[in-house]
Amino acid sequence: MALRKILLEGDSTLRKKSREVTKFDTRTQELIEDMFETMRQEDGLGLAAPQVGILKRVFVMEAMEDNEATAFINPIIIDENGEQTGAEGCLSLPGLFGIVSRPEEIRVRAQDPSGEEFEKTYTGLEARCVCHEIDHLNGILYRDKAEDGLHKLESEEEPSENGNGDASEEGKVEMKVADSDA
Ligand code: NI
Repeated sequence: MALRKILLEGDSTLRKKSREVTKFDTRTQELIEDMFETMRQEDGLGLAAPQVGILKRVFVMEAMEDNEATAFINPIIIDENGEQTGAEGCLSLPGLFGIVSRPEEIRVRAQDPSGEEFEKTYTGLEARCVCHEIDHLNGILYRDKAEDGLHKLESEEEPSENGNGDASEEGKVEMKVADSDA
């Protein structure tokens, strides 16, 4: 496994549409392992392949509720319900956040690293994350959807030692957003 370099906004790769994955080989599996490692290193919730310079329809997510690490290959949203509006961040746009509306609940169909198809329903932050990552596969950044432009994070929230720091989890997509009410 190896850490991959995360591309930053301005890199044209982030604006390209990714291709379907047709080979479920060791290269694809290696990419996914590297993406998990890179995501965890950056303390992220999700990461899409174009963010590490690979234009393949792959993203990874580590759901918070059940701590389930999942790789999504060739994902599509097959159903969506409701709406949520909240803060979003992105590892390719460090230090920024924006307010974006997303479906409250989505059902996603994708393939796992062995090519097996699966479906799963997500709500709340995880639904937001899936939408954000699928946007990456289509060359869309959350800046395009932010209602009032992007804002600077005032500072990196200091880790709370007495357990009062949970509010910072609220708006976290890919990277921690210090205050979702900002
Ligand atoms: Ni992102």
